[in-house]
Amino acid sequence: MRLIDDEPPAVPHRRLAPGKLVIASHNEGKVREIRALLEPYGIEPVSAASLGIPEPEETGTTFFANAELKARYSADLSGMVALADDSGLCVDALGGDPGVYTANWAETEDGTRNWPMAMRKVEDALQAKGPEAGRDAHFVCVLSLCWPDGHVESFEGRAEGTLTWPPRGTVGFGYDPVFVPNGDTRTFAELAPEEKKAISHRADAFRKLVAACLG
Ligand code: IMP
Repeated sequence: MRLIDDEPPAVPHRRLAPGKLVIASHNEGKVREIRALLEPYGIEPVSAASLGIPEPEETGTTFFANAELKARYSADLSGMVALADDSGLCVDALGGDPGVYTANWAETEDGTRNWPMAMRKVEDALQAKGPEAGRDAHFVCVLSLCWPDGHVESFEGRAEGTLTWPPRGTVGFGYDPVFVPNGDTRTFAELAPEEKKAISHRADAFRKLVAACLG
């Protein structure tokens, strides 16, 4: 019998069995990083694109809501466990923007994404705040695993850093060329993939997922 009843009982996490898993993303940069993270665990990742599964509309207002809806969509259509990532850049001086709308800031009129333009927009917004505003920022990543029966497990990771200008480096994707992680002087786009894998928001979320569902 529980004597203290204001704490909910801990619910055990569901284990992820080896086998095929759908990566519910059409972002090549994310798919590449998630594949590298999954490799050591006997998981066979297949991309949603290779199964002809389209991207659902991201109607959520939080990273958790969007990661979950993307994972659920691919799990429903494929009948397999699906893993989705929702991530973004949060700039302190901009009240956390662009946040869940990080990809939208890169959208152009013809529907393509222009990352140099998006980085410029963030820089312009930051400069409009003046030199006192500071350049602290963090990347957030929520990874959601959804099983075909609807069960979901979600984990949040972070990478803290500052924004630099002009952009530097050619590795990585998205806003990597303007983000300098704390403890380094190079941007994410100047790090080797293995170095980014050790410290990124995606790797941080993945460590939590492994501890809960794979470890
Ligand atoms: P969404 O999760 O599809 O909404 O898109 C998030 C956007 O955040 C991506 O398209 C990237 O531009 C950006 N982003 C997320 N993770 C990273 C990263 O590791 N490096 C650079 N940009 C990132």
